[in-house]
Amino acid sequence: MRTIEWAEEAGAVKLIDQTLLPRECRVVACKTVSGLVDAIKKLRVRGAPALGAAGAFGVVLACKNEKTEAGVKEAVELLKKARPTAVNLSYGVERALNAALLGRTAREREERALAEARRIAEEDVAANKKIGEFGSELLEDGDVVLTHCNAGRLACVDWGTALGVVRSAVAAGKRVEVIACETRPLNQGSRLTAWELLQDGIPVTLISDSASASLMRAGKVDKVLVGADRVVKEGVLNKIGTYSHAVAAKEHGIPFFVAAPLTSFDLERSYREVEIEERSAEELIFFGGEQVAPLEVRVFNPAFDFTPFELVAAVVTEEGVKWTRRKKS
Ligand code: MRU
Repeated sequence: MRTIEWAEEAGAVKLIDQTLLPRECRVVACKTVSGLVDAIKKLRVRGAPALGAAGAFGVVLACKNEKTEAGVKEAVELLKKARPTAVNLSYGVERALNAALLGRTAREREERALAEARRIAEEDVAANKKIGEFGSELLEDGDVVLTHCNAGRLACVDWGTALGVVRSAVAAGKRVEVIACETRPLNQGSRLTAWELLQDGIPVTLISDSASASLMRAGKVDKVLVGADRVVKEGVLNKIGTYSHAVAAKEHGIPFFVAAPLTSFDLERSYREVEIEERSAEELIFFGGEQVAPLEVRVFNPAFDFTPFELVAAVVTEEGVKWTRRKKS
């Protein structure tokens, strides 16, 4: 199934629970806004485009469960605040909410929200396919591509952005290998990217995050390709660790590409205005349930970082490849 979709019979949002991968691929259903907010906060559903769809389907749940317009508006505020950095979440919520509010009755609001949420989901798949088409031109036969976090089908409704580019290149007959950085602390690279590429039979090698620069130095990386949670006027916000790969790539003359749909763009805003989500200390103090740091240690655990355009060779969107002006920010 897709990463996230509406289940008509259940009147619920169905999603692949990404916290259980790669051990188990289980689909869970959320019937309430609070259930979906919890799923978003716990990263059962995650990745910017998937969060856009989650936000939109969440509005359908709000319309289903809240009989008044005021109730719907209040419920969707919780959705928008569930995670702050990826712009897609508020985009999806607002688009579905605006559509819903054109309805006069609770039933009409629900129908309109559902139609809009489904449109958002379809548009995401179509955008990713176009990103794949344009982006695959950047990859050559035999390329080894380093990626960080998971910008694959699990991060989107389907196909993927950065991994969508790889998929499209492979579908076009190119031999492409991926180096997946594990992406501590939540391991989206080792748990999700490695899993979904293996499912598709695309060669993938898992490395620790700290191995990336030395692999680049050894000439083992041809290109770096990542997704984005938000593209702002001076650069790109993405999973913590992305900036280190970009700095290392520049040092070694390796092109650093970003693949993102226009729904992740927020060009009016500076990175300084965007809230970088800080996650709990437990994510660093415990690993797989085992304590790996003193309980009383001070922890700083930002989930995202900022990479300026001067380190980015090009951004691939559904409208084509935009080569960046390498200005300082
Ligand atoms: O915390 P996550 O797993 O939601 O972070 C996801 C990322 O940083 C992805 O790289 C980004 O959303 C791009 S998804 C196509």
